[in-house]
Amino acid sequence: MLVTGAIGNAVLAVVVPVLTGDAFNAMLAPQPDTSVLLPLALTIGVSQVIRGVLQLGRNFGAELMAQKMERDIRDELYLSLLGKSMTFHNLQPVGDTMARATNDVREVNYMFSPGVNLVVGSFMFILMPLFFGPRYHPSLILTPLLFAVIYFAALAGYLKALSPVTDTARATFGQMNTHLSESLDGVEIMKGAAQEEAEVDRFVTNARKVRDAFVKQGDLEARYIAMLLLGLAFAGGLTHALFLLRAGLIDVGAVIGYFGMLQLLGFPTFTSTFAYSQISLGMSSARRILDLIQRETKLDQNASGLTSQIRGEIEFRNVSFRYPPPSPPIFGENGGRARGGYVLENISFKVKPGQTVALVGQTGAGKTTLVKLINRIYDATEGQVLVDGADVRDWNLAALRSQISIIEQDIFLFSRSLNDNIAFGKPGASKEEVVAASMAAQAHDFVLDFEDAYGTVVGERGVTLSGGQRQRIALARAFLTDPRILVLDDSTSAIDSATEDKIQRAIANASRGRTTFIITHRLSQIRWADLIIVLRKGRIAAIGSHDELMKTSEAYSRIFRE
Ligand code: GTP
Ligand code: MG
Repeated sequence: MLVTGAIGNAVLAVVVPVLTGDAFNAMLAPQPDTSVLLPLALTIGVSQVIRGVLQLGRNFGAELMAQKMERDIRDELYLSLLGKSMTFHNLQPVGDTMARATNDVREVNYMFSPGVNLVVGSFMFILMPLFFGPRYHPSLILTPLLFAVIYFAALAGYLKALSPVTDTARATFGQMNTHLSESLDGVEIMKGAAQEEAEVDRFVTNARKVRDAFVKQGDLEARYIAMLLLGLAFAGGLTHALFLLRAGLIDVGAVIGYFGMLQLLGFPTFTSTFAYSQISLGMSSARRILDLIQRETKLDQNASGLTSQIRGEIEFRNVSFRYPPPSPPIFGENGGRARGGYVLENISFKVKPGQTVALVGQTGAGKTTLVKLINRIYDATEGQVLVDGADVRDWNLAALRSQISIIEQDIFLFSRSLNDNIAFGKPGASKEEVVAASMAAQAHDFVLDFEDAYGTVVGERGVTLSGGQRQRIALARAFLTDPRILVLDDSTSAIDSATEDKIQRAIANASRGRTTFIITHRLSQIRWADLIIVLRKGRIAAIGSHDELMKTSEAYSRIFRE
C-alpha cells in the first residue's frame, strides 16, 4: 500500500511538467492550436485528483501501521516488564523505564509515520527524472544521475554521523526522566533537607544535556548538503537543457518539461533534512526498547510446575543467599574472600502447616531477605527452600505466589479506591466480601470515617493513610485472597497502644488456619509464636519456642529482660 501509493504519487506528479511542456509546444508552433489546451488541462486536473486520493491512502496506511505498531510495542514492553525479576527492577531506574515506555515508543511511531512514509514517497521522486528525463534527450540523464549518486553518498555519511547523536539524545532524555522521577519520589526528603536548590541545579544540568544533544542533532541537520545539491542540480540541468535547445536537439516544451521534472527533486531533498533524523531517532529508541525487553528475566515461570493447594509446610535446607551483583563481579582484593557478600548463611529450619513463626533480629540481620525467598522474589543462592516438601523452584510460579501473601515493610497502595486496593488480589470480589475482610482486619471503622468510605481514592484530594492504616488495608487484602502462607513484615512500625491492640487482634485473626511468618519487635507477638527464629548477621543465633529460648538462649532472654 505504502509503496504502491508512493509510485502512483510520483508518476502522476511527472504528468504536470510533461503536459505543461506539451502545451507550450502547441502554443509556440507556427500555427498555434488552442484546441489541445482543454484536454491537456483536464488531464492534468484529473491526474492530480487521483494523485490526491493515492496520497491520502498512502498517508492513512502509514499512520495506521505506525499507530498499531506503537500499541503493540507498548503491550509487549509492559508484559515483559511485569515478567522481570526483582533483581532487574531494583537495578533499572523507574524514570528511565517510563521514558522508554512512553517517549521511545512514540519515536518508533514517528519513525514510520512520517519517517519511513516520507522516505519511501520521496525516493520515488528521485527516480522520476532518471526515468523520464532521457525521454527528451538521452544525455539529459546526466544531472539526475549525478544528483542521485551524490545524494545517496551524502545520505550515507549523514546517517552514520546521525546515529550516535540520536543515541545520545534518547539516552540523555532517559537520564533526565530518571532524575525527575527520583526527586519526585523523594520530594519529602528533599524538602526536609532543604535541598531544593541543589536538586534544581542538578535537574538543570540534566536538562541542559538533553538540549545539547538535540542542538547537536540540529547542527548536523543544518550542515547536511542536500539543499546545496538541489540548487546545483537546477542550475546544471537547466544549462544543459538550454544548450541542447540551442543546438536544436530538443524543443522549448522539452526544456520546460525537463526543468519541471527536476523540480520533483525538491521533495526528497526537503524531506531528507528531517525524515532521516526521525528515522535515526526511531532506531535509537527501538534499540532502547529492545534492550529493555531482552534483558535477562532470571526467574522462570515454570508453567508446568506444581499447582496443587499448599498445605503450608515450609523448610529451609542449608540456605545461603546473597543479592545478585549488579555487574559481573570484579575479582580483586575482595574477590578472594570466600563468603563475601552473603546476607543469609546456612539457614535451616522447618515449619509445620498452620504454625506461626516469629522472626526477630536487629536491623539488617536479613529478616526481610529471608521471607523473600519463600515466594521466589529471589532464589536461594545455595541450598533449598521447600514448600510442602517440594523445592519452590518446582512449583508453578503463579500457583506458588497466589497462595503466599507478603505484607511488606512499607506498604504500597495504588492510586485507586480503598475498595479496589483491598480487592486487588481478588478482582470482582463482592462488596460484602470486601467489608467482611476489612472488618476482620480492623479497618472497617477508620474506612467509614472517610467521606466516601470504600470509594475513597488513595492520593486524591489529599487522602493519605498512616502506617497503621495501610497495614490494616494490607491485612484486609490478605483476608480476601485467603493465602495458605502469610508473611507480615512489621519490624519498623511504631504505633500507639490503642491501634496496636487492634492490629494485634487483626493479626491473630489473620494467622488462624494458615502458616504465618511475623517479623516483629513486639514482645507480645513473639511470645505466642510457635517457633521463634533469632537472626544475627544472616545466621540463626537461636531457634525454638518462647519457653525453650528463655531457658537456653542468653541473647533471647536478654530481649525480654530489658
Ligand atoms: P530491618 O528491616 O531493618 O529490620 O532489616 P532486615 O533484617 O529486614 O534486613 P534485610 O533483609 O532487609 O537486609 C539484610 C542485608 O541485605 C542488609 O545488609 C542490606 O543491606 C542487604 N540488602 C537488602 N535488600 C537488598 C537489595 O535489594 N540488594 C542488595 N544488594 N542488598 C540488599
Ligand atoms: Mg526488613
